[in-house]
Amino acid sequence: MVKLTYLSHSAWLVEKDSLSIVIDPFLSGNPLAKHKPEDIRADYIILSHAHGDHIGDTETIAKAHNSVIIANFEIATHFGNKGFHVHPMHIGGAHTFDFGRVKLTQAFHGSSFPDGSYGGMPAGILLTLDDTTIYHTGDTGLFSDMQLIGKHEKVDAMLVCIGDNFTMGIDDAAEAVALVKPKLAIPMHYKTFDMIDVDPNEFVSKVELMDMKAQVVDFGATIAL
Ligand code: NI
Ligand code: MN
Repeated sequence: MVKLTYLSHSAWLVEKDSLSIVIDPFLSGNPLAKHKPEDIRADYIILSHAHGDHIGDTETIAKAHNSVIIANFEIATHFGNKGFHVHPMHIGGAHTFDFGRVKLTQAFHGSSFPDGSYGGMPAGILLTLDDTTIYHTGDTGLFSDMQLIGKHEKVDAMLVCIGDNFTMGIDDAAEAVALVKPKLAIPMHYKTFDMIDVDPNEFVSKVELMDMKAQVVDFGATIAL
């Protein structure tokens, strides 16, 4: 059984038995986060792109737990040069780790580091643990090739950015769910800032109108997949 905890924004904790993976751990300076970086134990940290609201507390958590940082080549090189354990990947590539499989998908967005330096191309993340697959869209606009993800992967949980302004808004996010056809769609990347203050229940209603399943996971709450 895979446990999924919504740390808020695009940050998720994925746990299975003693394995702990955190995605986009933005906690410090995040008004919605119920967890502090000290509360998070991570064997692996997977990053979708280099923006500050996704890199977040990566260094603090990685230092505390000797976590392996999995990200695109540019982000992995950045952290590797600072002495962190990294595993570089890139869009379209998959790798089977001892815990399962990670594949980076495309995402239409930017990916500079907070200081403006180049963070490579932004990505979405496909994470498979045993027979459970999670698709974290990263920050992205809608793109029709999402239907290829739906065609080739049996997605159990799709973590979908819905906040508009920087990423898909609710209508495009619902369309994205129609393309991927996950068992369950869960909204993310909303309410953290005024510019992305949308109602996730509106997204859930739109997905349900298409006879698919969606659910809001409260900030800090855990669900089982
Ligand atoms: Ni971003
Ligand atoms: Mn973002």
